[in-house]
Amino acid sequence: MKFAVFGDIHGNIEALKAACAAAQAAGAEKIYHLGDLGGYSPFVNEVVGFLIEHGVEGVQGNYDETVANDREHCGCKAEDPVQEEMANKSFEWTKQHASQKTKDYLRSLPFKITFVAFGEKVLIFHATPSKNNLYWYEDRPEKFFKEMAEKVDADVMIYGHTHKPYRKDINGKIFINAGSVGKPKDGDPRACVTLIDITAGKVNVEFLRISYDVEKAAKAIVSSGLPKYFAEKLKEAK
Ligand SMILES: [Fe+2]
Repeated sequence: MKFAVFGDIHGNIEALKAACAAAQAAGAEKIYHLGDLGGYSPFVNEVVGFLIEHGVEGVQGNYDETVANDREHCGCKAEDPVQEEMANKSFEWTKQHASQKTKDYLRSLPFKITFVAFGEKVLIFHATPSKNNLYWYEDRPEKFFKEMAEKVDADVMIYGHTHKPYRKDINGKIFINAGSVGKPKDGDPRACVTLIDITAGKVNVEFLRISYDVEKAAKAIVSSGLPKYFAEKLKEAK
């Protein structure tokens, strides 16, 4: 079974369209998204419309939950006061511009998706199996990975939230952070499409990086009234 996973799209419709074309060209039979569909870029309604139209199933991220339920804060962690201020502006913008239909969709997303492929139990969630806003980076101690795996009945865990892709194998469990389609933070501004191929006894993971018109996406951020800061971050992939 070959499928693609789209992490953190964050309102970036240009990146999503390119990612979808690449996943189809690579032979993905199905696409899953990892939530966090709005914020930082302006096209949350278009992203949701596109996912519905293309039958892309997915889970609810912290940003989806907080936008849909009109929370005070997006649940994202800022590294400095400037980032916090910018994050708040993005969150308020997104709550204001997300349509009722979009909010209904975001609210309806499940916390997790599970299925079995060739005997491998696959579990998909946004950040961790029990919390949607904890950052699960690759350099977390092995103990952390083991504790997470103990909470669930799964062989392959797929998640995002950090915008930095990796695969790690520990004690026969496979941990896949699918990175981000619309707002990578690993220094590579191209969209990240994670391609997973499960066959008998084998799980193959590929992180495709897809070029798209980042300049156009950055301009759309500026003209939407969102802070220019996010256009710069998009280009720098930080
Ligand atoms: Fe997130």
